Amino acid sequence: MAEDLRIIQGSKAEIYQSLIPQIKALIEGEPDGVANLANVCAALKEQFGWLWVGFYLVRASVSNAAEEELVLGPFQGPVACTRIKKGRGVCGTAWQESRTLIVEDVENFPGHIACSSLSRSEIVVPIIRENTVLGVLDVDSEALAQFDETDMLYLEEIISALPF
Ligand code: SME
Repeated sequence: MAEDLRIIQGSKAEIYQSLIPQIKALIEGEPDGVANLANVCAALKEQFGWLWVGFYLVRASVSNAAEEELVLGPFQGPVACTRIKKGRGVCGTAWQESRTLIVEDVENFPGHIACSSLSRSEIVVPIIRENTVLGVLDVDSEALAQFDETDMLYLEEIISALPF
């Protein structure tokens, strides 16, 4: 398949409806998780130009192997914090609560982890398989209230299409 992304302009829904089949084509038939996560980040970043797009994956904690924490995975954007504990920040809260979180103003989210001082709003979508959270997709924007129910709908569709 072609590795060029077709970038379009239009409403948010139109953009996702153009992008999602392209993302599905990119990951179709590719069993390697890292490769797929990397291309999903690149496709979202290229189309939307958000500040930061990336994955945190549930892994064994370095300090206590019996515990788990989120560890930085494939991403696009500025360097980010490497490990996040359950219940910490937006990512750790989305993991703990097994649900997508939309934060219109990160300054109003208690415990928000500021990897970049430029980040103003955020959406975190958990990757859930058989009732277990395996990781999260985290997207940050320099604009306030960048993300809404439309992003939630389509980002959840992308996450559910990932072979985990
Ligand atoms: N802001 C996130 C941390 C990850 S960075 O934004 C890339 C949080 O509060 O969980």
